[in-house]
Amino acid sequence: MLRLKNQIVAALDVGSANMRALIAEVDENQQPIIKGFGTAPSKGIKKGLVIDVEEATQAIFNAVTAAEKMANMTINSCYVNLSGDNIRSMNTRGLVAVARDSRTGLGEAREIEQEDIERVIEHTKALPFPVDRQILHVLAQEFIVDDHGGIKNPLGLIGRRLEAKVHIVSYDTTAVSNLSKCIKNAELEIDGFVLSSVAAAYACLEESEKEMGTILLDIGSGVVDVIVFHDSGVHHTGVVNEGAASVTSDIAYMLRIPLERAEQIKKEHGYARISLTDQEAFFKLNGLGGRSVREISRYNLAEWIEPRMEEILQEAHQEAQKSDIPLTNTLSVVLCGGGALLKGTEQLVESIFNTPARIGLPTGFSGYESELTDPSFAVAIGLLKYAIAEMEYNPRHRIKSHGPFSNLRAWFKHIIENVM
Ligand SMILES: Nc1ncnc2c1ncn2[C@@H]1O[C@H](COP(=O)(O)OP(=O)(O)OP(=O)(O)O)[C@@H](O)[C@H]1O
Ligand SMILES: [Mg+2]
Repeated sequence: MLRLKNQIVAALDVGSANMRALIAEVDENQQPIIKGFGTAPSKGIKKGLVIDVEEATQAIFNAVTAAEKMANMTINSCYVNLSGDNIRSMNTRGLVAVARDSRTGLGEAREIEQEDIERVIEHTKALPFPVDRQILHVLAQEFIVDDHGGIKNPLGLIGRRLEAKVHIVSYDTTAVSNLSKCIKNAELEIDGFVLSSVAAAYACLEESEKEMGTILLDIGSGVVDVIVFHDSGVHHTGVVNEGAASVTSDIAYMLRIPLERAEQIKKEHGYARISLTDQEAFFKLNGLGGRSVREISRYNLAEWIEPRMEEILQEAHQEAQKSDIPLTNTLSVVLCGGGALLKGTEQLVESIFNTPARIGLPTGFSGYESELTDPSFAVAIGLLKYAIAEMEYNPRHRIKSHGPFSNLRAWFKHIIENVM
């Protein structure tokens, strides 16, 4: 295990509504100390896909520059999340012989070495993928040595055969090259891509939750990322191609108001559960274009919100049901992403999933805790934690150096700030 103290790591959460950048230093406990963070309204990105290169580049630049300013340092590279309906996932398995006679798998059993584990993981990837797809993650569920299953780490065990059950996530290379292009245009290199839900799980889930069985939902603006854990392994990942922005659009349409105003009303007065609202609680809506002030009840507002949230969460439930373990084996649902902040969402989730739900706040970091202990920062914090875990166990993953004015973007920023 590598000691990473003082190493700088950076994360970029590319979202449909917000770009979020974080810069952190690794402490002696291998946890990130946040040195700077930046949020910028997202433009040119929808549901994990780039729809306008220039706008997306600018939004990335804005978020990263804000984080750099706060951290008083520049970064050259970052870990980036992936999401959207270009992502596919499946459960599969691989098998290798460990016995001395590796052709037949017979003969004397021997100790399983790191190389055997790598070999069996390689075997799980031997799938007929189309040319435009690449593997993002191979997430081990369990190993089976001879006929003994449920093994998390087979290193050092004695056996003849090693089998691995894994969850494989793949992405569409064209979709991701467009995103890479925007990141590179913003003068950043990519240290690695991580599935949004995998990152969020790093930030919000306790080990015991992963072991006992938990569904994590990252309710974003354009998508909901779903991940199902059981017995400390990932059993399903999926993406629902609709998010909390649909609720805002409904409010804007019903009240005939601009999206920005609808967004404010949703945050201030919105409830995902009609039964939690009071019929007598009214709020005022200033008339537009000469219309008089209107009074709207929270109850009526919830009557529009609940069906849409229910539809989105039903889809998330169906996605989770694709898992190879029955959902009755999961003990809770954890919610993150900005959409989790809509009041009453936990209660609605509980009724749909028939399981207790809680809001997932990112933990296991220090620095700017009061600003970042927020479900909207789950993916960004999780990216940092994933980065640290990856570097700890795999020395091949070392981050490109960061420093003052070590890249073109930093130089540009320097010029803009000092000359203009
Ligand atoms: N306090 C709040 N109450 C209700 N909704 C909120 C609140 N704060 C944020 N949201 C909603 O959360 C959504 C944005 O969430 P988030 O920032 O996680 O999305 P994103 O990561 O940009 O999008 P995606 O992950 O879908 O690409 C918006 O629809 C916004 O209205
Ligand atoms: Mg998001």
